[in-house]
Amino acid sequence: MTLYSRITGTGSYLPPRRVSNDELAQELAGRGIETSNEWIVERTGIHARHFVADGVNSSDLALEACRHALEAAGRSAAEVDLIIVATSTPDMVFPSSAAILQNKLGIAGCPAFDVQAVCSGFVYALTVADAMVRTGAAKCALVVGAEVFSRILDFNDRTTCVLFGDGAGAVVLEASDTPGILASDLHADGSHVGILCVPGHVSGGQVLGTPLLHMDGQAVFKLAVRVLEEAARATLAKAGKTEADIDWLIPHQANIRIMQGTAKKLKLGLDKVVVTVHEHGNTSAASIPLALDAAVRGGQVRTGDTVMLEGVGGGFTWGAVLLNL
Ligand code: UT7
Repeated sequence: MTLYSRITGTGSYLPPRRVSNDELAQELAGRGIETSNEWIVERTGIHARHFVADGVNSSDLALEACRHALEAAGRSAAEVDLIIVATSTPDMVFPSSAAILQNKLGIAGCPAFDVQAVCSGFVYALTVADAMVRTGAAKCALVVGAEVFSRILDFNDRTTCVLFGDGAGAVVLEASDTPGILASDLHADGSHVGILCVPGHVSGGQVLGTPLLHMDGQAVFKLAVRVLEEAARATLAKAGKTEADIDWLIPHQANIRIMQGTAKKLKLGLDKVVVTVHEHGNTSAASIPLALDAAVRGGQVRTGDTVMLEGVGGGFTWGAVLLNL
């Protein structure tokens, strides 16, 4: 009997502080930085994002998302035997946010580690968890994307600070006799390190270099539209499916124009694309599981639907996962 993995529950969490474009524009004006709701909406589709309060870390957001996902799956934390957290904004240099999350969940013993693939982190983490479940190494995994990008934004750089937000999303991935995850396709090309990075690092007790996000938005935009189509097609081919089999596309929520471009190339109507970027902004590794949970709880995506998840981001990294919910 072939062993598969299947998502049995989803959950998410947004920190309570919602910051509208107008509020952000007003804050930035105080620094002499000019932006507007009109520019942000027209160029990105973003209307608002959520920011954490001081002292709240990725593992805190992850904990709330996991509680909701476990409840939806009808599982307790004690049944979890693997935790993978995708994040580029971990609580500490080490240990991993996954280990910190494990302790907050009140459990110990199971493997727990972080995956760092920036905005592609969740599709990477889901692919690793799927492989571990299919080999029998785990039966009930928590796969999480959690970020506090507000901590690494340069609020003097209007080309980036209006784009990102904080949040977490999680799924419970369990061993199954029937296929859930159908295929995945992951890539990286480190020659593009400089177009999206946080170049600072720790040395001798000091942060050297700038620990703030830098992005060449246009370069990322062009690459993203190309690789997202390629990853989707490769994943469909691996699963023996076509675009017509996709019920829902859940792309990384960075920019509505990238999502529209990807949908067009895949000949999918926009009514088949889950969009949360307007309310969440770009939450990096958290964006896909946040969007998935919103779509499940909103009654859009239902059990049995075929869903394509797509991530793209720093590294450069990109990838897709096709699954039956
Ligand atoms: O999560 C990882 C993946 N990340 C992405 O997918 C991001 C990909 N990139 C993008 O989404 C878009 O490139 C951006 C939203 C970042 C920028 O949109 P754009 O249409 O490429 O704008 P642009 O960079 O060409 O800038 C157009 C103008 C510039 O002014 P000039 O040179 O034409 O006078 C910018 O200085 O808009 C200006 N501008 C702004 N104006 C008001 C840039 N940022 C702002 C701002 N408010 N916040």
